[in-house]
Amino acid sequence: MTDSFAQDVHKGLSAEHKFLPSKYFYDDNGSRLFKQIMDMPEYYLTNSEFEIISLQSKQIFKALEFSQPFNIVELGAGDGLKTFKFLEFLVQQDIKFNYVPVDISSEAMEMLTANLEKRLPGIVIKPKVGDYFKILSINKTSQYPSLLLFLGSNIGNYKQDKAKELLKLFNANMKKGDKLLVGFDLKKNPLTVHKAYFDSQGITKRFNLNLLLRINRELDADFQIDNFDFYCHYNPLSGDVRSYIVSLRAQQVHIKKIDKVFNFDYNELISTELSKKYSLEEIGALAKNADFKLKTNFLDCKHYFTDSLWEK
Ligand code: TRP
Repeated sequence: MTDSFAQDVHKGLSAEHKFLPSKYFYDDNGSRLFKQIMDMPEYYLTNSEFEIISLQSKQIFKALEFSQPFNIVELGAGDGLKTFKFLEFLVQQDIKFNYVPVDISSEAMEMLTANLEKRLPGIVIKPKVGDYFKILSINKTSQYPSLLLFLGSNIGNYKQDKAKELLKLFNANMKKGDKLLVGFDLKKNPLTVHKAYFDSQGITKRFNLNLLLRINRELDADFQIDNFDFYCHYNPLSGDVRSYIVSLRAQQVHIKKIDKVFNFDYNELISTELSKKYSLEEIGALAKNADFKLKTNFLDCKHYFTDSLWEK
């Protein structure tokens, strides 16, 4: 783990336009900060999707048109909070299903399993730890229909061509008639998006700078955090939110584990994350591109977010 972290940091900080992969945000401290982001009133994404799942579980279930039992395979389940309301609805209606949460964090999967078994007695839950695609391939041979969940705005963190590739890979691991429910953050008033990503309390800044602290700790580096700032920008035409760490002075940082000194110019940027916002037209085109039929968009009442249901 640390080795690929070192390699990725080396690669990103050696590039002409420096970057750091955002997947490394989520160490224990980063996960805690991300939870704080999700709790901020400005970060509307969490509430919007929670509203969709809470108020429209019945409609989502009906739109599946599945025989029972069926599988629910959730990619990147995390704490599973997003999905709880849907699972609760199914259990209450005595609908038969197997819940298969998938995540790279075994700790997250253990906590989720214990929590669900307590709160939804009788639920059939088969957690899987590991790589999405190795696990997904099992789905092809299942005798039951499957609903794949890819919630949050996970897909928004992929560049256009990577997102297309990922959705095609999902398709390749699905059976005819299987469904995919995928979360998209929608284009909206630019100020609303701006405030969600550039919060006044500076939590998002701490979340980004935590990555430098992680490099200090795990790769024995000497980043001086006060010499760096955070900047982010929303382009309402492309829908891209781009986040950066900014070097506030010309400086050098020694990363001992990589055995290298990196130079930072005055105001030099390190790209961290893309968080793309979509239009409903773009979502339709993505579905078509990956050979899916778009069945329904489930939107929240403010039309900030959609959970889009696709059929193979
Ligand atoms: N990846 C999430 C998103 O795109 C979390 C996030 C919120 C984030 N603010 C951020 C990631 C700023 C990087 C930078 O919504």
